[in-house]
Amino acid sequence: MNSLAGKRIVLGVSGGIAAYKAVEICRRLVDAGAHVIPVLTKGATRFIGRTTFDALASEPVQMSLFDEDDPIPHTTLGQTADCVLVAPATARVIGAYAAGISSDLLTATLIATRAPVVICPAMHTEMWEHPAVIDNIATLVERGVHIVGPESGRLAGGDEGAGRLSSPADIVAAVGRALDAGGQLADMAGLSVVVTAGGTREPIDPVRYIGNRSSGKQGYAFAEEAASRGAKVTIVTTVERPDLAGATVVKVDTAQEMAAATAKAAKEADVVIMAAAVADFRPVDPAGVKLKKRDGVPAIELEPTPDILASLGASKPEGQTLVGFAAETCDVAGNAAAKLSGKGADYIVANDVTAENAGFAYDTNEVLVLASDGRTHPVGLRSKRQVAQAVLDMVVADRTSRADTQENK
Ligand code: CTP
Repeated sequence: MNSLAGKRIVLGVSGGIAAYKAVEICRRLVDAGAHVIPVLTKGATRFIGRTTFDALASEPVQMSLFDEDDPIPHTTLGQTADCVLVAPATARVIGAYAAGISSDLLTATLIATRAPVVICPAMHTEMWEHPAVIDNIATLVERGVHIVGPESGRLAGGDEGAGRLSSPADIVAAVGRALDAGGQLADMAGLSVVVTAGGTREPIDPVRYIGNRSSGKQGYAFAEEAASRGAKVTIVTTVERPDLAGATVVKVDTAQEMAAATAKAAKEADVVIMAAAVADFRPVDPAGVKLKKRDGVPAIELEPTPDILASLGASKPEGQTLVGFAAETCDVAGNAAAKLSGKGADYIVANDVTAENAGFAYDTNEVLVLASDGRTHPVGLRSKRQVAQAVLDMVVADRTSRADTQENK
Protein backbone atom coordinates (compact mmCIF):
# COMPACT_ATOMS: atom_id res chain seq x y z
CA MET A 1 0.00 0.00 0.00
CA ASN A 2 1.38 3.46 -0.78
CA SER A 3 1.72 5.93 2.05
CA LEU A 4 -1.06 8.17 0.68
CA ALA A 5 -3.81 5.57 0.62
CA GLY A 6 -6.54 6.38 3.12
CA LYS A 7 -4.77 9.48 4.41
CA ARG A 8 -6.68 12.71 5.05
CA ILE A 9 -4.90 15.48 3.23
CA VAL A 10 -5.99 19.09 3.61
CA LEU A 11 -5.06 20.70 0.30
CA GLY A 12 -4.68 24.44 0.88
CA VAL A 13 -4.73 26.56 -2.25
CA SER A 14 -3.83 30.24 -2.04
CA GLY A 15 -4.12 33.02 -4.55
CA GLY A 16 -1.46 32.81 -7.21
CA ILE A 17 -1.48 31.98 -10.87
CA ALA A 18 -0.06 28.52 -10.04
CA ALA A 19 -3.40 27.72 -8.35
CA TYR A 20 -4.45 25.99 -11.57
CA LYS A 21 -1.74 23.39 -10.94
CA ALA A 22 -3.39 22.49 -7.63
CA VAL A 23 -6.11 20.78 -9.67
CA GLU A 24 -3.55 18.30 -10.99
CA ILE A 25 -2.13 17.84 -7.47
CA CYS A 26 -5.64 17.16 -6.16
CA ARG A 27 -6.29 14.59 -8.87
CA ARG A 28 -2.97 12.81 -8.26
CA LEU A 29 -3.60 12.63 -4.50
CA VAL A 30 -7.10 11.23 -5.04
CA ASP A 31 -5.75 8.73 -7.59
CA ALA A 32 -3.23 7.57 -4.98
CA GLY A 33 -6.12 6.82 -2.62
CA ALA A 34 -5.89 9.89 -0.39
CA HIS A 35 -8.95 11.61 1.07
CA VAL A 36 -8.52 15.19 -0.10
CA ILE A 37 -10.21 18.16 1.56
CA PRO A 38 -9.66 21.35 -0.41
CA VAL A 39 -9.36 24.62 1.51
CA LEU A 40 -9.23 27.65 -0.77
CA THR A 41 -8.40 31.21 0.16
CA LYS A 42 -10.49 34.03 -1.27
CA GLY A 43 -7.55 34.90 -3.53
CA ALA A 44 -7.40 31.36 -4.88
CA THR A 45 -10.93 31.63 -6.25
CA ARG A 46 -9.83 34.54 -8.44
CA PHE A 47 -7.62 32.08 -10.29
CA ILE A 48 -9.55 28.83 -10.12
CA GLY A 49 -13.20 27.99 -9.55
CA ARG A 50 -14.26 26.00 -6.53
CA THR A 51 -16.49 23.78 -8.71
CA THR A 52 -13.38 22.14 -10.17
CA PHE A 53 -12.21 21.06 -6.72
CA ASP A 54 -15.73 20.14 -5.62
CA ALA A 55 -15.82 17.72 -8.54
CA LEU A 56 -12.36 16.22 -8.10
CA ALA A 57 -11.71 16.18 -4.37
CA SER A 58 -13.13 13.84 -1.73
CA GLU A 59 -15.09 16.60 0.01
CA PRO A 60 -16.51 19.95 -1.07
CA VAL A 61 -14.32 23.02 -0.89
CA GLN A 62 -14.15 24.83 2.44
CA MET A 63 -13.34 28.50 2.65
CA SER A 64 -14.88 30.01 5.73
CA LEU A 65 -13.84 30.10 9.37
CA PHE A 66 -17.53 30.37 10.21
CA ASP A 67 -19.21 27.20 9.00
CA GLU A 68 -22.92 26.66 9.67
CA ASP A 69 -22.56 22.97 10.56
CA ASP A 70 -19.19 23.10 12.32
CA PRO A 71 -18.49 26.05 14.62
CA ILE A 72 -14.75 25.35 14.57
CA PRO A 73 -13.88 24.05 11.09
CA HIS A 74 -10.19 24.97 11.39
CA THR A 75 -9.63 22.83 14.48
CA THR A 76 -11.65 19.96 13.01
CA LEU A 77 -9.56 20.13 9.86
CA GLY A 78 -6.28 20.57 11.72
CA GLN A 79 -6.92 17.78 14.22
CA THR A 80 -8.16 15.20 11.73
CA ALA A 81 -5.61 15.84 8.97
CA ASP A 82 -2.76 13.41 8.39
CA CYS A 83 -1.01 16.12 6.42
CA VAL A 84 -1.68 19.73 5.48
CA LEU A 85 -0.35 20.65 2.05
CA VAL A 86 -0.35 24.22 0.72
CA ALA A 87 0.20 24.47 -3.03
CA PRO A 88 0.68 27.12 -4.15
CA ALA A 89 1.67 29.00 -1.02
CA THR A 90 1.82 32.76 -1.50
CA ALA A 91 4.13 35.10 0.40
CA ARG A 92 1.09 36.16 2.45
CA VAL A 93 0.18 32.65 3.58
CA ILE A 94 3.83 31.84 4.33
CA GLY A 95 4.17 35.07 6.33
CA ALA A 96 0.95 34.54 8.26
CA TYR A 97 1.87 30.94 9.07
CA ALA A 98 5.38 31.90 10.21
CA ALA A 99 3.98 34.70 12.37
CA GLY A 100 1.10 32.64 13.75
CA ILE A 101 -1.60 34.88 12.32
CA SER A 102 -4.85 33.07 11.56
CA SER A 103 -6.75 35.42 9.34
CA ASP A 104 -8.62 32.87 7.24
CA LEU A 105 -9.56 29.18 7.29
CA LEU A 106 -6.31 28.04 5.67
CA THR A 107 -3.92 29.91 7.98
CA ALA A 108 -6.06 28.98 11.03
CA THR A 109 -5.91 25.31 9.99
CA LEU A 110 -2.13 25.50 9.60
CA ILE A 111 -1.81 26.84 13.11
CA ALA A 112 -4.33 24.39 14.53
CA THR A 113 -2.66 21.25 13.20
CA ARG A 114 -0.01 18.97 14.60
CA ALA A 115 0.16 16.96 11.39
CA PRO A 116 3.14 17.32 9.05
CA VAL A 117 2.86 20.41 6.87
CA VAL A 118 4.16 20.66 3.31
CA ILE A 119 4.45 24.18 1.91
CA CYS A 120 5.05 24.73 -1.80
CA PRO A 121 5.91 28.39 -2.41
CA ALA A 122 5.14 30.05 -5.74
CA MET A 123 5.66 33.74 -6.41
CA HIS A 124 7.70 36.18 -8.44
CA THR A 125 11.48 36.07 -7.97
CA GLU A 126 11.56 39.52 -6.33
CA MET A 127 9.12 38.32 -3.69
CA TRP A 128 10.84 34.94 -3.17
CA GLU A 129 14.16 36.74 -2.64
CA HIS A 130 12.74 39.38 -0.30
CA PRO A 131 14.43 39.17 3.12
CA ALA A 132 11.04 38.86 4.85
CA VAL A 133 10.12 35.80 2.81
CA ILE A 134 13.61 34.31 3.28
CA ASP A 135 13.30 34.78 7.06
CA ASN A 136 9.79 33.34 7.15
CA ILE A 137 10.85 30.26 5.21
CA ALA A 138 13.86 29.81 7.52
CA THR A 139 11.52 29.99 10.53
CA LEU A 140 9.24 27.35 9.05
CA VAL A 141 12.17 25.05 8.12
CA GLU A 142 13.44 25.34 11.68
CA ARG A 143 10.02 24.26 12.95
CA GLY A 144 10.14 21.14 10.80
CA VAL A 145 7.81 22.31 8.01
CA HIS A 146 8.61 20.72 4.67
CA ILE A 147 9.30 23.26 1.98
CA VAL A 148 9.08 21.98 -1.58
CA GLY A 149 10.58 24.24 -4.25
CA PRO A 150 10.12 26.66 -5.76
CA GLU A 151 11.81 25.86 -9.04
CA SER A 152 13.27 28.25 -11.57
CA GLY A 153 11.56 28.81 -14.88
CA ARG A 154 8.85 30.79 -16.61
CA LEU A 155 6.71 32.90 -14.29
CA ALA A 156 3.48 34.83 -14.77
CA GLY A 157 3.77 37.70 -17.23
CA GLY A 158 6.55 35.99 -19.18
CA ASP A 159 9.30 36.61 -16.61
CA GLU A 160 11.93 33.95 -15.91
CA GLY A 161 13.45 33.15 -12.56
CA ALA A 162 13.12 31.39 -9.23
CA GLY A 163 9.60 31.14 -7.88
CA ARG A 164 7.76 28.65 -10.06
CA LEU A 165 5.68 26.04 -8.25
CA SER A 166 7.34 22.60 -8.13
CA SER A 167 5.86 19.93 -10.36
CA PRO A 168 2.70 18.16 -9.14
CA ALA A 169 4.65 14.85 -9.19
CA ASP A 170 7.37 16.26 -6.91
CA ILE A 171 4.78 17.76 -4.56
CA VAL A 172 2.77 14.55 -4.26
CA ALA A 173 6.01 12.60 -3.66
CA ALA A 174 6.94 15.06 -0.88
CA VAL A 175 3.55 14.53 0.80
CA GLY A 176 4.19 10.77 0.67
CA ARG A 177 7.56 11.23 2.33
CA ALA A 178 6.14 13.55 4.97
CA LEU A 179 3.60 10.86 5.84
CA ASP A 180 6.21 8.06 5.75
CA ALA A 181 8.29 9.94 8.24
CA GLY A 182 5.40 9.70 10.67
CA GLY A 183 5.01 13.39 10.92
CA GLN A 184 8.58 14.23 11.78
CA LEU A 185 9.69 14.26 8.19
CA ALA A 186 12.99 15.47 9.40
CA ASP A 187 14.76 12.19 8.72
CA MET A 188 18.00 14.15 8.29
CA ALA A 189 17.51 16.35 11.35
CA GLY A 190 20.69 16.62 13.38
CA LEU A 191 22.86 15.75 10.36
CA SER A 192 25.33 18.19 8.95
CA VAL A 193 25.53 17.95 5.17
CA VAL A 194 28.10 19.55 2.85
CA VAL A 195 27.25 19.79 -0.85
CA THR A 196 29.49 21.10 -3.61
CA ALA A 197 27.81 22.54 -6.69
CA GLY A 198 28.72 23.98 -10.08
CA GLY A 199 31.85 23.83 -12.22
CA THR A 200 35.17 25.32 -11.14
CA ARG A 201 36.83 28.09 -13.14
CA GLU A 202 40.58 28.00 -13.56
CA PRO A 203 41.99 31.37 -14.62
CA ILE A 204 44.06 31.76 -17.78
CA ASP A 205 44.29 35.53 -17.28
CA PRO A 206 42.09 38.06 -15.45
CA VAL A 207 39.25 37.69 -18.00
CA ARG A 208 39.49 34.11 -19.28
CA TYR A 209 39.21 30.78 -17.59
CA ILE A 210 39.00 27.04 -18.21
CA GLY A 211 35.52 25.94 -17.19
CA ASN A 212 32.93 23.29 -17.87
CA ARG A 213 29.21 22.96 -18.56
CA SER A 214 28.02 22.26 -15.02
CA SER A 215 25.01 24.39 -14.03
CA GLY A 216 24.99 23.49 -10.34
CA LYS A 217 21.36 22.35 -10.59
CA GLN A 218 21.98 18.82 -9.32
CA GLY A 219 24.10 20.05 -6.40
CA TYR A 220 21.44 22.60 -5.41
CA ALA A 221 18.75 19.94 -5.69
CA PHE A 222 20.73 17.87 -3.15
CA ALA A 223 21.12 20.88 -0.88
CA GLU A 224 17.39 21.70 -1.06
CA GLU A 225 16.35 18.12 -0.47
CA ALA A 226 18.70 17.68 2.51
CA ALA A 227 17.53 21.00 4.00
CA SER A 228 13.87 20.09 3.56
CA ARG A 229 14.57 16.87 5.48
CA GLY A 230 15.96 18.83 8.41
CA ALA A 231 19.71 18.70 7.72
CA LYS A 232 22.03 21.60 8.45
CA VAL A 233 23.40 22.33 4.99
CA THR A 234 26.58 24.02 3.74
CA ILE A 235 26.86 24.58 -0.02
CA VAL A 236 30.30 25.18 -1.49
CA THR A 237 29.38 26.59 -4.88
CA THR A 238 30.75 28.27 -7.96
CA VAL A 239 27.31 29.38 -9.17
CA GLU A 240 25.07 32.16 -7.88
CA ARG A 241 21.56 30.92 -7.24
CA PRO A 242 18.85 32.21 -4.92
CA ASP A 243 19.97 31.58 -1.38
CA LEU A 244 18.60 28.45 0.16
CA ALA A 245 16.84 29.31 3.39
CA GLY A 246 18.81 28.21 6.40
CA ALA A 247 21.83 26.98 4.40
CA THR A 248 25.39 28.33 4.71
CA VAL A 249 26.67 29.31 1.27
CA VAL A 250 30.41 29.43 0.56
CA LYS A 251 31.17 30.94 -2.84
CA VAL A 252 34.33 29.71 -4.58
CA ASP A 253 35.79 29.84 -8.08
CA THR A 254 38.73 27.50 -8.49
CA ALA A 255 39.38 23.85 -7.66
CA GLN A 256 41.94 25.00 -5.11
CA GLU A 257 39.38 27.26 -3.36
CA MET A 258 36.77 24.52 -3.47
CA ALA A 259 39.26 22.01 -2.03
CA ALA A 260 40.08 24.31 0.90
CA ALA A 261 36.46 25.27 1.66
CA THR A 262 35.21 21.69 1.34
CA ALA A 263 37.98 20.21 3.49
CA LYS A 264 37.18 22.74 6.22
CA ALA A 265 33.41 22.15 6.11
CA ALA A 266 33.76 18.37 5.77
CA LYS A 267 35.64 17.99 9.07
CA GLU A 268 32.39 18.21 11.03
CA ALA A 269 30.06 16.80 8.36
CA ASP A 270 28.00 13.62 8.57
CA VAL A 271 27.38 13.53 4.83
CA VAL A 272 29.48 15.07 2.04
CA ILE A 273 28.11 15.23 -1.49
CA MET A 274 30.65 16.08 -4.19
CA ALA A 275 28.27 17.10 -6.94
CA ALA A 276 30.57 19.79 -8.35
CA ALA A 277 32.32 19.36 -11.66
CA VAL A 278 35.89 20.09 -10.64
CA ALA A 279 38.37 20.97 -13.38
CA ASP A 280 41.08 18.34 -13.58
CA PHE A 281 43.69 20.72 -14.99
CA ARG A 282 44.54 24.37 -14.48
CA PRO A 283 47.00 26.76 -16.09
CA VAL A 284 50.33 26.54 -14.28
CA ASP A 285 50.95 30.25 -14.39
CA PRO A 286 47.85 32.41 -15.03
CA ALA A 287 48.77 35.75 -16.62
CA GLY A 288 48.42 38.76 -14.34
CA VAL A 289 47.20 40.93 -17.22
CA LYS A 290 44.91 40.15 -20.15
CA LEU A 291 46.69 38.18 -22.88
CA LYS A 292 46.75 40.26 -26.06
CA LYS A 293 45.95 38.91 -29.52
CA ARG A 294 48.82 40.84 -30.99
CA ASP A 295 51.23 38.69 -28.97
CA GLY A 296 50.13 35.56 -30.86
CA VAL A 297 48.41 32.31 -29.83
CA PRO A 298 49.58 31.47 -26.31
CA ALA A 299 50.78 28.03 -25.28
CA ILE A 300 49.06 27.37 -21.98
CA GLU A 301 50.80 24.86 -19.80
CA LEU A 302 48.46 22.92 -17.53
CA GLU A 303 48.95 21.11 -14.25
CA PRO A 304 46.59 18.79 -12.33
CA THR A 305 44.26 20.23 -9.70
CA PRO A 306 43.81 18.53 -6.33
CA ASP A 307 41.33 15.64 -6.46
CA ILE A 308 38.96 16.82 -3.72
CA LEU A 309 36.87 13.66 -3.53
CA ALA A 310 39.93 11.42 -3.34
CA SER A 311 41.45 13.43 -0.50
CA LEU A 312 38.12 13.50 1.37
CA GLY A 313 37.98 9.72 0.90
CA ALA A 314 41.51 9.31 2.25
CA SER A 315 40.81 11.32 5.41
CA LYS A 316 37.16 10.37 5.97
CA PRO A 317 36.18 10.59 9.65
CA GLU A 318 34.49 7.54 11.19
CA GLY A 319 30.78 7.45 10.38
CA GLN A 320 30.89 10.03 7.59
CA THR A 321 29.08 9.21 4.35
CA LEU A 322 30.88 10.35 1.21
CA VAL A 323 28.94 10.63 -2.05
CA GLY A 324 30.82 11.26 -5.29
CA PHE A 325 29.66 11.67 -8.85
CA ALA A 326 30.87 10.36 -12.16
CA ALA A 327 30.24 12.26 -15.35
CA GLU A 328 30.80 9.78 -18.13
CA THR A 329 30.37 9.61 -21.87
CA CYS A 330 30.91 5.84 -22.23
CA ASP A 331 31.09 2.66 -20.07
CA VAL A 332 29.25 4.47 -17.27
CA ALA A 333 29.12 1.53 -14.84
CA GLY A 334 32.76 0.49 -15.40
CA ASN A 335 34.20 3.99 -15.08
CA ALA A 336 32.00 4.75 -12.06
CA ALA A 337 33.08 1.54 -10.29
CA ALA A 338 36.71 2.56 -10.78
CA LYS A 339 35.99 5.99 -9.26
CA LEU A 340 34.12 4.43 -6.32
CA SER A 341 37.08 2.32 -5.22
CA GLY A 342 39.78 4.69 -6.43
CA LYS A 343 38.46 7.68 -4.49
CA GLY A 344 37.28 5.96 -1.32
CA ALA A 345 33.64 7.08 -1.66
CA ASP A 346 30.66 5.26 -0.15
CA TYR A 347 28.51 5.95 -3.21
CA ILE A 348 29.07 7.14 -6.74
CA VAL A 349 26.17 8.73 -8.58
CA ALA A 350 27.01 8.13 -12.22
CA ASN A 351 25.47 9.63 -15.28
CA ASP A 352 25.98 9.55 -18.98
CA VAL A 353 26.29 13.24 -19.75
CA THR A 354 25.58 12.63 -23.42
CA ALA A 355 22.16 11.04 -22.72
CA GLU A 356 19.04 12.95 -23.76
CA ASN A 357 17.53 15.23 -21.07
CA ALA A 358 20.15 14.23 -18.53
CA GLY A 359 23.28 15.84 -17.16
CA PHE A 360 24.55 19.38 -17.49
CA ALA A 361 22.03 22.22 -17.52
CA TYR A 362 18.92 20.02 -17.79
CA ASP A 363 16.30 20.02 -15.04
CA THR A 364 16.15 16.25 -15.27
CA ASN A 365 18.70 13.52 -14.76
CA GLU A 366 19.03 9.77 -15.04
CA VAL A 367 21.68 8.09 -12.90
CA LEU A 368 23.12 4.82 -11.70
CA VAL A 369 24.02 4.78 -8.00
CA LEU A 370 26.85 2.45 -7.02
CA ALA A 371 27.41 1.65 -3.34
CA SER A 372 30.75 0.54 -1.91
CA ASP A 373 29.21 -2.79 -0.81
CA GLY A 374 28.51 -3.69 -4.43
CA ARG A 375 24.83 -2.68 -4.69
CA THR A 376 23.73 -0.76 -7.75
CA HIS A 377 20.55 1.24 -7.98
CA PRO A 378 19.36 2.73 -11.28
CA VAL A 379 17.28 5.92 -10.99
CA GLY A 380 15.31 6.53 -14.19
CA LEU A 381 14.81 9.92 -15.85
CA ARG A 382 13.22 12.34 -13.36
CA SER A 383 13.70 15.80 -11.90
CA LYS A 384 17.05 16.52 -10.30
CA ARG A 385 15.23 16.99 -7.00
CA GLN A 386 13.78 13.48 -7.28
CA VAL A 387 17.22 12.09 -8.10
CA ALA A 388 18.49 13.78 -4.93
CA GLN A 389 15.58 12.24 -3.00
CA ALA A 390 16.38 8.76 -4.27
CA VAL A 391 20.07 9.05 -3.38
CA LEU A 392 19.39 10.57 0.06
CA ASP A 393 16.77 7.87 0.73
CA MET A 394 19.55 5.32 0.20
CA VAL A 395 22.03 7.27 2.34
CA VAL A 396 19.55 7.70 5.21
CA ALA A 397 18.40 4.06 5.10
CA ASP A 398 22.02 2.80 5.15
CA ARG A 399 23.02 5.14 7.98
CA THR A 400 19.98 4.04 10.01
CA SER A 401 20.65 0.33 9.51
CA ARG A 402 24.34 0.86 10.38
CA ALA A 403 23.33 2.66 13.58
CA ASP A 404 20.88 -0.16 14.44
CA THR A 405 23.59 -2.78 13.92
CA GLN A 406 26.00 -0.83 16.17
CA GLU A 407 23.32 -0.59 18.83
CA ASN A 408 22.62 -4.34 18.76
CA LYS A 409 26.27 -5.30 19.13
N1 CTP B 1 36.40 15.41 -8.39
C1 CTP B 1 37.11 16.06 -7.41
N2 CTP B 1 38.24 16.73 -7.71
C2 CTP B 1 38.73 16.73 -8.97
C3 CTP B 1 38.01 16.06 -10.00
C4 CTP B 1 36.86 15.40 -9.67
O1 CTP B 1 36.69 16.07 -6.26
N3 CTP B 1 39.84 17.38 -9.25
C5 CTP B 1 35.18 14.68 -8.01
C6 CTP B 1 33.91 15.18 -8.66
O2 CTP B 1 33.29 16.17 -7.85
C7 CTP B 1 33.07 13.92 -8.71
C8 CTP B 1 34.11 12.81 -8.88
O3 CTP B 1 35.34 13.36 -8.42
O4 CTP B 1 32.38 13.71 -7.49
C9 CTP B 1 34.28 12.32 -10.28
O5 CTP B 1 34.46 13.40 -11.15
P1 CTP B 1 34.59 13.17 -12.72
O6 CTP B 1 34.80 14.47 -13.39
O7 CTP B 1 33.48 12.28 -13.19
O8 CTP B 1 35.88 12.26 -12.82
P2 CTP B 1 37.41 12.56 -12.70
O9 CTP B 1 37.90 12.08 -11.39
O10 CTP B 1 37.69 13.98 -13.01
O11 CTP B 1 38.02 11.59 -13.81
P3 CTP B 1 37.86 11.65 -15.42
O12 CTP B 1 37.76 13.12 -15.77
O13 CTP B 1 39.10 11.02 -15.89
O14 CTP B 1 36.63 10.88 -15.75
